[in-house]
Amino acid sequence: MTRLCVVGGGRMGRALVSGLLRSGWIEPSEIAIAERYEAARADLQHRFPDVEVSGDVVPAGSAVLAVKPPDAPEATEMMRKQGINRVVSIVAGVKISVLQFHLGESAVVLRAMPNLPAVVGAAASGLAGGPTATEEDYSWAEAVLSAFGVVARVPEPLLDAVTGLSGSGPAYVLVLTEALIEAGVLQGLDREVSRLLAIQTLLGTARMMSELGDTAEDLRARVTSPGGTTAAALRELERAGFRSAVVEAVAAATARSRELGQQTH
Ligand SMILES: NC(=O)c1ccc[n+]([C@@H]2O[C@H](COP(=O)([O-])OP(=O)(O)OC[C@H]3O[C@@H](n4cnc5c(N)ncnc54)[C@H](OP(=O)(O)O)[C@@H]3O)[C@@H](O)[C@H]2O)c1
Repeated sequence: MTRLCVVGGGRMGRALVSGLLRSGWIEPSEIAIAERYEAARADLQHRFPDVEVSGDVVPAGSAVLAVKPPDAPEATEMMRKQGINRVVSIVAGVKISVLQFHLGESAVVLRAMPNLPAVVGAAASGLAGGPTATEEDYSWAEAVLSAFGVVARVPEPLLDAVTGLSGSGPAYVLVLTEALIEAGVLQGLDREVSRLLAIQTLLGTARMMSELGDTAEDLRARVTSPGGTTAAALRELERAGFRSAVVEAVAAATARSRELGQQTH
């Protein structure tokens, strides 16, 4: 019996299947991918030779919904017809109540908002459960999603804030990266050298916080010696309103996510 059917074999669906197989949480024979686009199916079968790749949703104990938002109602109807009773959706903007409507009242629905670093197993996902989700269902969804990164539980209305912070977050970090690279070039560094140093600075700083548990405040104090180079730089960032620009960016993305969610029924 198929334990898990991943519906939608796009970027996110693939990243999830890779992570799940790598973690050993599931055997290839227990997982199926439903992908309606034929050329994509051939590619998936090549990439995951021992996994069932099908054009239709197959009967399974549970499923992951990873299609584009406009395809979600049809895909959930297909799940219901196949008797699938527990689903975690990563579809942006489609509410639990909408999924519940298509899947039936007794179905268990959880909804997550991951982000693009899922493709390298480093996603940050928010997870919310519907009215029928039990502690066991949350643990199951956490086990599935942790195959491609970290997971935090939030009430469903806060998934818009998750979208504003981590969903859209890679773009903010990318703008910062571009700016750092250009700044290095402006100061005379070779572009490739500037790129290498900028990326490693982001990666190294993130790893210190994530692996050593250092807080951002502590680390910043440690690298800012009185009257030094970093202090001079930070004064410029404050003067330019860097911190408040970030706060406003997250607020704007959160508001936009809320607005888009209201348009999706
Ligand atoms: N990419 C991100 O960073 C990110 C972050 C957070 C959330 N999400 C959400 O995750 C979801 C998936 O994103 P993605 O980037 O993986 O999208 P994607 O690459 O477009 O993948 C979706 C795949 O599902 C297939 N599909 C659609 N309806 C289907 C059905 N009824 N049965 C079987 N397969 C079906 C699509 O086929 P066709 O090509 O034929 O349409 C497509 O190949 C989206 O809802 C997105 O909002 C993405």
